Amino acid sequence: ASGPLVDRFGRVHRDLRVSLTDRCSLRCTYCMPEQGNEWLARTSILTLDEIVRVAGTAAECGITTFRLTGGEPLLRTDIVEVVRRLAALRTPSGERVEIAMTTNGIRLREVLPELVEAGLSRLNISIDTLDRERFLALTRRDRLDDVLDGIAAAAASGLRPLKLNAVAMRGVNDGELVDLVEFALAHDAQMRFIEQMPLDAGHTWDRTQMVTRDEILTALAQRWTLAAVPGRGGAPAERFVLDGGPATVGVIASVTAPFCGDCDRLRLTADGQLRNCLFSTSEYDLLPVLRGSGGSVERMLRSCVAGKLPGHAIDDPSFLQPARGMNAIGG
Ligand code: GTP
Ligand code: 5AD
Ligand code: SF4
Repeated sequence: ASGPLVDRFGRVHRDLRVSLTDRCSLRCTYCMPEQGNEWLARTSILTLDEIVRVAGTAAECGITTFRLTGGEPLLRTDIVEVVRRLAALRTPSGERVEIAMTTNGIRLREVLPELVEAGLSRLNISIDTLDRERFLALTRRDRLDDVLDGIAAAAASGLRPLKLNAVAMRGVNDGELVDLVEFALAHDAQMRFIEQMPLDAGHTWDRTQMVTRDEILTALAQRWTLAAVPGRGGAPAERFVLDGGPATVGVIASVTAPFCGDCDRLRLTADGQLRNCLFSTSEYDLLPVLRGSGGSVERMLRSCVAGKLPGHAIDDPSFLQPARGMNAIGG
């Protein structure tokens, strides 16, 4: 490969988010309708070998972090093999790549030892509420205990940093922010609060209803003194030290404080489409390349990067939500 993946704005891409399935064991209201979405056709889902082929080319082009997402990545029956094969990849200079995963935590307790053995480096687990009734209302599944089991297993494993994600929602969990941080601290984890983005299935997102970064910080400041940690590289989360440290909390303010200028991410969907942004409305189809009609994975990666816009346009009056739902993009 001839050098790193640099776009028209000089952003170097180091991170590929790989969605392994669009299916999920939960039905969070901000992500999917109650009945689920129309699932991707099974025949279009990338096989283990196809994923490894794309990831291998990406590693040759300077991708150093692979984040496995979904839907729910643990629903892939070959998840341990995916981790093992990707963890065996090396950068052009021979260094190991990082394999991270974002999961809802269900089934994690069961598979975590195998994932660690296969080479998983890092985990982010979603937990929006600690209240059972609220969890049921939000996710439409009574699985809070399974998620808590998964978080406990992750805390007991050596994987660090361990991050917990919550989308902040008005009238849902905005009264629970301090409790969620306390919960994370008790698990030696970093709590992160996320501004809700317009990616919900029902297209019901309303900026005036969204809990903002500033509101999140105000709520936390009732309990702790917060000091911003300078420099976040390409990371979406701004971090704040609590009461002098060492504990920190993160805020992902994609809407009120966009970080697109530092974006280093590309996305691969479960059905083989490359995306250069969460919000992009065009995709680069790898399926024909992978399944025999010729063409090169590297060329597709480079075209995808070349087509990247400076940032999302959530605030633009002409903003259009992508056709694909969050569960089929991978967050
Ligand atoms: P780290 O590498 O651990 O910082 O992971 P992450 O925060 O990038 O990944 P995670 O899957 O935990 O995502 C947390 C939230 O950040 C989700 O709401 C994602 O949709 C959002 N997110 C991740 N990457 C991007 C990005 O490039 N742009 C935007 N706008 N949001 C992102
Ligand atoms: N806005 C912000 N974050 C979202 N997530 C899912 N849907 C949205 C949305 N509309 C989060 C999940 C998970 C991560 C992968 O993305 O809660 O933590
Ligand atoms: Fe990157 Fe798009 Fe996210 Fe902005 S919105 S940080 S460009 S993925």
